[in-house]
Amino acid sequence: MPDPLDNLRNVRDGGKPVVALTAYDYPTGRLVDEAGVDVILVGDSLGMVVLGYEDTSHVSLDEMLHHTRATRRGVKRALLVGDMPYKTYETPEQALATALALRKAGADMVKLEGGREKEAELRALVEAGIPMMGHLGMLPQQVVEEGGYKKKGRSEVEAERLLADAQLLEEIGVGAIVLESLMKRVARAITESISIPTIGIGSGKGCDGQILVIHDLIGSFPWFCPPFVTPKADVAGAISSSVRSYIEEVQNR
Ligand code: KIV
Repeated sequence: MPDPLDNLRNVRDGGKPVVALTAYDYPTGRLVDEAGVDVILVGDSLGMVVLGYEDTSHVSLDEMLHHTRATRRGVKRALLVGDMPYKTYETPEQALATALALRKAGADMVKLEGGREKEAELRALVEAGIPMMGHLGMLPQQVVEEGGYKKKGRSEVEAERLLADAQLLEEIGVGAIVLESLMKRVARAITESISIPTIGIGSGKGCDGQILVIHDLIGSFPWFCPPFVTPKADVAGAISSSVRSYIEEVQNR
């Protein structure tokens, strides 16, 4: 049985870029897996595109576990990553309990947001043998504190800090890093300076792979789509027109 972590390992040995997408339920996980994606993230973006919260800070661990279990049932081949929700990894002990719960729910790997401020938690998780994914740059769980979604790495100081954080994560033993909303040149410089794969979102093409929120890709959340995504379908439109046609059919029988 192939190790799903190989889906990340091969990219630095001349393999193809890593293709990653989010999924939050059985049918989507299964469709995305069967289409051939390398990595499936049950992201805490769940809170916004599925549960209708304002931002990701409202997502609970129970909600993440419920959706990780559902997605696991559909995913047979891709690497399944579970996201640690806001305020569930404040200490090494709490981080370990959260990560173990996500692993029990079916995640092959676990992701958390942050750099040096999460060093103690990341070290504890890696030492416990949990495959970890990092997340640097724009951190959606900090959006309320930061007052909005802001591009990162604009100043030299910020770029240097991000680079040092990425190198620290690699030294700790993290397996891959999501780079979200970074200046393209900074994402490229980080990718060139570390030997673990980077997976970009809104950070240009200089990463080892790309990740998107599935709803943005397929046009199923019409109220917002990030500027860097060109939807490849109009699932929201298909739902609306199917429902309108059904209403007409029932009312005019
Ligand atoms: O929660 C999520 O979907 C994410 C991706 C945007 C990387 O963290």
